Amino acid sequence: MKTIVSLVLASLILATIALGSGAYNMAATEKHWGITEKIIEWVRDSSIEARAKDLQVPALDGEELLAGGAEHYSAMCTICHLAPGLEPTELSIGLYPQAPIFHQREPINDPAKRLEHAREYFWVIKNGLKMTAMPAWGLSHDDNAIWGMVAFILKMSQMTPEQYENLVNSAKNQAHDHQDSDHGHSH
Ligand code: HEC
Repeated sequence: MKTIVSLVLASLILATIALGSGAYNMAATEKHWGITEKIIEWVRDSSIEARAKDLQVPALDGEELLAGGAEHYSAMCTICHLAPGLEPTELSIGLYPQAPIFHQREPINDPAKRLEHAREYFWVIKNGLKMTAMPAWGLSHDDNAIWGMVAFILKMSQMTPEQYENLVNSAKNQAHDHQDSDHGHSH
């Protein structure tokens, strides 16, 4: 028993010395080992699943919600997650882990799976993800705005550049119309 304790202590001390000497390479260009990547993925997915599972998903098919999502997405997310018709950006190619490309994902048709994805997307957008560059948008946006982005991302699977352009443009026009009527003047 004593020898085991001493061995464990000795390895901890050695590991501390090695890490403190700078032996571990923090560079984003230095990929994790396959096994480390699997462990991180497992911890991340379990963490998100546990925290998202009781969220109530509102109706996601409202036009206004989707338009808000399109506008927010095009303004804040494309630099990392890209969009149909957009080339990779200088920022997106340097990310590690890489940001997922939503429009290249397979559409999710099973309603239960869709709900599960909606909850998990919502949780990640609101709270962000440690050590990944994914920001917590819940500090600056209310839940309704975040559900709008969730609705939009779910719709992005296999969206064409034209469909993307149209949705974003009509969302911008809608927002303008709102502003105009709010301020009581017209063109
Ligand atoms: C600065 C880069 C950056 C920006 C900007 C960004 N993200 Fe992310 N996002 C990431 C990265 C990197 C990941 C992947 C993290 C990982 O692999 O664990 C991610 C993950 C996600 C995920 C989880 C996807 C999944 O299936 O695992 C969602 C949802 C998401 N982002 C939505 C958004 C939305 C919506 C916006 C805009 C409001 C946004 N992100 C802006 C970098 C970014």
